[in-house]
Amino acid sequence: MKKIKNKSSGQIYFLKGNNVILDPIEDKDVPKIAGLIGKWTNDPVVTYYLFTGQRPKNKKQAAANLRRDLESENNIIFLAVDKKTKKPIGYAGLYDINLIVRKAEFRILIGEKDFWGKGYGTEITELITFYGFDRIGLNRIYLGYTSAHDRADKTYKKVGYVYEGTRREDLYRNSTYYDSVIMAILRKDYYKNLYHLHVNKFFKKYESEK
Ligand SMILES: CC(C)(COP(=O)(O)OP(=O)(O)OC[C@H]1O[C@@H](n2cnc3c(N)ncnc32)[C@H](O)[C@@H]1OP(=O)(O)O)[C@@H](O)C(=O)NCCC(=O)NCCS
Repeated sequence: MKKIKNKSSGQIYFLKGNNVILDPIEDKDVPKIAGLIGKWTNDPVVTYYLFTGQRPKNKKQAAANLRRDLESENNIIFLAVDKKTKKPIGYAGLYDINLIVRKAEFRILIGEKDFWGKGYGTEITELITFYGFDRIGLNRIYLGYTSAHDRADKTYKKVGYVYEGTRREDLYRNSTYYDSVIMAILRKDYYKNLYHLHVNKFFKKYESEK
């Protein structure tokens, strides 16, 4: 998708919500962003319900993982930046994209805890869901989360993801065997229920900035 220049600030962004900007991760920025990702994924509060975070990750490992993920044509990963302060707050994207069968997995991590519970996760999920259907033509976007993760549950339901099933005792974490929950959203339901809402909320404003 074409990058769009915001006339008022001159800033370039890829996808923009009301509070968050989703930008590509440039090669030159990998060391800096890997440092942030290392910080976030070494934080046991951030990763409390995640598969990741059980092993400490140094900057070099975080950079190698990030480069590997960015280089794969099967992933599209965005840095999430707070629109107001320009602070990077996390990352999110579509992983394991398969354009032949037209599906991908959505993943998100907001690593700056001060930004939790303020609508950023919802907005990022909406933007990437729109992007997955409208810009790269997916038919199905799915995701998984640990069953006790109420904030994730609420966020995905709010955006229109629907429960599909439970993997029993899918991960051992916090001295507990957790089930994991699979949710997905389908193209036909997205266009019926959400597409127009998202276009009006996020994309109409591009027209006035052209
Ligand atoms: C999970 C995550 C993406 C949610 O994003 P967020 O910005 O914190 O969530 P939002 O502010 O958009 O809130 C979404 C909903 O959850 C609700 N919520 C917030 N905190 C909650 C909590 N502790 N328990 C239950 N619901 C909660 C909000 O009220 C909101 O619903 P509402 O608008 O109907 O009131 C984010 O917290 C995160 O990245 N956490 C760390 C990494 C992670 O867990 N990633 C997800 C892996 S599956």
